[in-house]
Amino acid sequence: FQLLFPGDPTHPPVVLHWLPIIGSAIEYGNDPIAFFRKCQEKYGNVFTFILLGRKVTVALGPKGNNFILGGRHSQMNAEDAYCHFTTPVFGKDVVYDVPNYVFMEQKRFIKSGLTTENFRAYVKMMEEEICSFIENDSAFRIYQLSDERGEWGQFHPLNTISEITILTASRTLQGKEIRASLDKTFAQRYADLDGGFRPLNFMFPNLPLESYRKRDKAHKAMSDFYREMIRKRRARKSFSDDDSHDMIAALLTQKYKDGHQIPEHEVAHIMIALLMAGQHTSAATGTWALLRIAEHPEIGAALYNEQIEHFGIGEPGVFRTASYEELRALPLLDAVIRETLRLHSPIHSIFRKVTQDVPVPRSLSSPRSTVASRPYIVPKGHYVLACAAVSQRDPKIWPNADKWDPYRWLEKDGVAAQAYKAYEDVNGEKVDYGFGAVSKGTDSPYQPFGAGRHRCIGEQFAYLQLGMLISTIIRKLELRLDIPFPEVNYHTLIVLPKDPCNISYRRRWEA
Ligand code: HEM
Repeated sequence: FQLLFPGDPTHPPVVLHWLPIIGSAIEYGNDPIAFFRKCQEKYGNVFTFILLGRKVTVALGPKGNNFILGGRHSQMNAEDAYCHFTTPVFGKDVVYDVPNYVFMEQKRFIKSGLTTENFRAYVKMMEEEICSFIENDSAFRIYQLSDERGEWGQFHPLNTISEITILTASRTLQGKEIRASLDKTFAQRYADLDGGFRPLNFMFPNLPLESYRKRDKAHKAMSDFYREMIRKRRARKSFSDDDSHDMIAALLTQKYKDGHQIPEHEVAHIMIALLMAGQHTSAATGTWALLRIAEHPEIGAALYNEQIEHFGIGEPGVFRTASYEELRALPLLDAVIRETLRLHSPIHSIFRKVTQDVPVPRSLSSPRSTVASRPYIVPKGHYVLACAAVSQRDPKIWPNADKWDPYRWLEKDGVAAQAYKAYEDVNGEKVDYGFGAVSKGTDSPYQPFGAGRHRCIGEQFAYLQLGMLISTIIRKLELRLDIPFPEVNYHTLIVLPKDPCNISYRRRWEA
């Protein structure tokens, strides 16, 4: 049918599919990157595929990213794409449950808590949490038993890093009340709420399933918990040393432009949104980073040497605590995180809903196209999808694109800089990315944190959390991978490794 009636030529080409409503859902769900690359070869950078009845137009490459992430809010928006899915989890009146200008104010409130001054206070707190975890959790039994290098043990990186991530986030951003209740009821509630954050929920916001009921119950319980905590803090009217740096403290000082205070339920729901936004993304990145370091023990050794060089105090295995500024200035650590995010961006698809017919220049589909033809129209009601992961692995942009090589980020004229040059050569145009600011623009080939009005505001916090995680582990443990590098699981909302993915470790003899 599709071959006989190829569709409206003013619209982007539709990916060939056999099942009318399911469309390409299975291929996309199994491996979106491979699916998009295949479609790119056949149709160019712009094409539409059917995803369980929805029409989704994909625009690939830096210009495609720019088209979507830098798109006009009046033509396409995130709230109509995500609200059905996020509101039951985050709660009412925040993020995508409000008009975008309100959310932009809420983002400003959140930024007021993500300050360098607060980050400075977090370094020590994170270090304590991670050290205590390694010294007490059963995942690191071998470390705890031996006081010298010898036996190898194993840990499951995703489970372990997820726990460490929630511990460090709750100790710092979320507040001491959340940290204290993590060991009790909060962890189960979080797990139930998290059960509502899956692709199934994205496609079907309400089904009569137990997991949906648990999600709703957990949301109510968590919202009540935060609200009670906020009430108590507001009643106290002052902050103590150990809660003056968290996000609640920051939010309670903020006001909307019209002068009204942020209502209690909104503070609570912003806190839940932050917990969900930061947890999986950071845990997944930490997991992939450790897997890559374990796969490349020479990088583990180089990271260890970097720690000795900057923080060693002359006694084997003894280090001083880094300052926030020192941590952020470690070249190899920074490059390891950057490179991990290039190959393993936790978010592979960014959606927007089209609210007004929107033209797409044909040159966007085929960069070298010189044919002056009318643009494609992406009709109102479609979704558009940006996938930075495709440009982050594009061999025309990145030499040895599929290789995890942190060193490509280390030299001004090194491989990363060459990647931009290659992009310019391919596209025949000059692009001023500026080294070190590569993830800022909406048309950058590197966008693990998105771009434009919805760009991530948690990037600096994530770098701090990941930097502390990697450096604290590397100071204490030698890592090795005794299995083939794990395959990728795209069936979860966030890109995760499939099992088996255990990392082998042993105590560093000096530690
Ligand atoms: C937005 C990635 C950590 C809070 C985003 C977006 C991406 C992203 C790709 C854009 C989404 C879109 O355009 O629809 C990541 C990655 C992280 C990370 C890779 C860690 C490695 C965090 C953390 C927080 C956070 C730790 C909170 C502390 C947010 C918020 C937004 C956002 C509030 C804005 C959403 C919007 O404006 O629609 N993040 N994120 N993220 N992220 Fe992150």
